[in-house]
Amino acid sequence: MPATVVVGAQWGDEGKGKIVDLLAQESDVVCRYQGGPNAGHTIVADGETWKLRQLPSGVVSGTTSVVGAGCVVDPEVFLDEIDLLESRGVDPSIVVLSGNAHLIMPWHVTIDRASERRLGKLQIGTTRRGIGPAYADKASRIGIRVQDVLDAKILRQKIAVALAEKNVWLERVYETEGFDLEDVWSRYAGYAERLAPFVGDVSLLIDDALRAGRHVLFEGAQATMLDLDHGTYPFVTSSNPIASGAATGVGIGPTRIDRVLGVAKAYVTRVGEGPLPSEIEGPQQARLRELGGEYGTVTGRERRCGWLDLVALRYAVRVNGITSLALTKLDVLSEFDELPVCIRYRQRDGSETPHFPAHQSDFHHAEPVFEVVAGWRRPLDEAATLAELPGPARAYVELVARELEVPVELVGIGAARDRVLA
Ligand code: GDP
Ligand code: IMO
Ligand code: MG
Repeated sequence: MPATVVVGAQWGDEGKGKIVDLLAQESDVVCRYQGGPNAGHTIVADGETWKLRQLPSGVVSGTTSVVGAGCVVDPEVFLDEIDLLESRGVDPSIVVLSGNAHLIMPWHVTIDRASERRLGKLQIGTTRRGIGPAYADKASRIGIRVQDVLDAKILRQKIAVALAEKNVWLERVYETEGFDLEDVWSRYAGYAERLAPFVGDVSLLIDDALRAGRHVLFEGAQATMLDLDHGTYPFVTSSNPIASGAATGVGIGPTRIDRVLGVAKAYVTRVGEGPLPSEIEGPQQARLRELGGEYGTVTGRERRCGWLDLVALRYAVRVNGITSLALTKLDVLSEFDELPVCIRYRQRDGSETPHFPAHQSDFHHAEPVFEVVAGWRRPLDEAATLAELPGPARAYVELVARELEVPVELVGIGAARDRVLA
């Protein structure tokens, strides 16, 4: 099974980075297909902690790591992470960057902040890294791509075209200062020399790898419920994290993907605004947050915590075509006597459904129906296989597999690379 997509099945931060790092040990290429430095993937390997935002998690193991056309790239973050590789003894020449990926420009960050401020109570709670405005300009066809920095004349022209509009917008609508063409140009032209060696034809590279029977991992950032088309719009990111986004984001056909591994936490978290039906009420939420260390990697914000939501997960299985699951952070639940699991939603008319509501207002009114299962009240450290988990922990994993009709292939019982049961 050479081509595997690893996709977040909930609201992000499921532990995708850790799972990708683990699978990268047996892969030839790892490829990010969407998103940008809004991602925060923490990997703990060989006693070292990595926090990656822009580069694929494959870099930790020194695997060829590719950033596809569907990504947006902040050159400063990209180059900082290249420096990090060097400082940790990883040869940065394993990194390949698509010339078609779009650049996050300084005005994207300013507009992201200003527009959130303007939305006030209606804000999305973005990571404020310029993600939405960069994708918006891509769709409007005034975006600036990685390949544009390689030609100083083209770069200047494109910045001038963008600024002619952005500066009016910034000054008149957002009442903030605009940007100076020469300043931005010299800064971005300055990146050219350092970026140039990484730029390559990602679509061709992946196609060649697949034709040669190599193992390719497609690493999603964000997650299903944050997908622009299929997530909880408008409280979503501006790209397509779902598995089919891998094909468009990389430039291969959908028939090339062999399997889709969904990554789900044994509970749920969400950073930012928007509905979260199984959000825990009362002090248990703070307890779970503490136990799970649920604070954002990029923004440091508290993550909202909820019990496992099988309705949302069932939906993730559908929209991604998930063929197996990795259930992470099971160890975090070890302190609880009882574990509510959301198995259905109660709708406004009192009926119950196992399916995720298709309409926003139905979803906003959906109430979780919980089945309460027994906790295991002991650490999971000693288990070396799934069979060695305490009975109630095994039952918890089996409940997920049974309800979703998808095998649970991997179970996370700690942050380190080897703390995964297969
Ligand atoms: P990602 O964005 O999906 O890559 O996830 P994050 O890295 O943002 O958040 C997951 C956090 O949980 C990281 O700090 C990981 O080191 C940690 N983690 C991953 N898997 C496990 C696990 O099975 N158990 C525990 N306790 N921590 C885990
Ligand atoms: P990883 O890859 C969790 C959330 C933000 C906000 C919404 C839109 O680590 O799982 P954006 O800056 O993308 O325009 O913000 O999406 N968000 C994430 N939440 N994990 C992430 O990435 C996220 N990336 C964006 O909090 O609600
Ligand atoms: Mg994260």
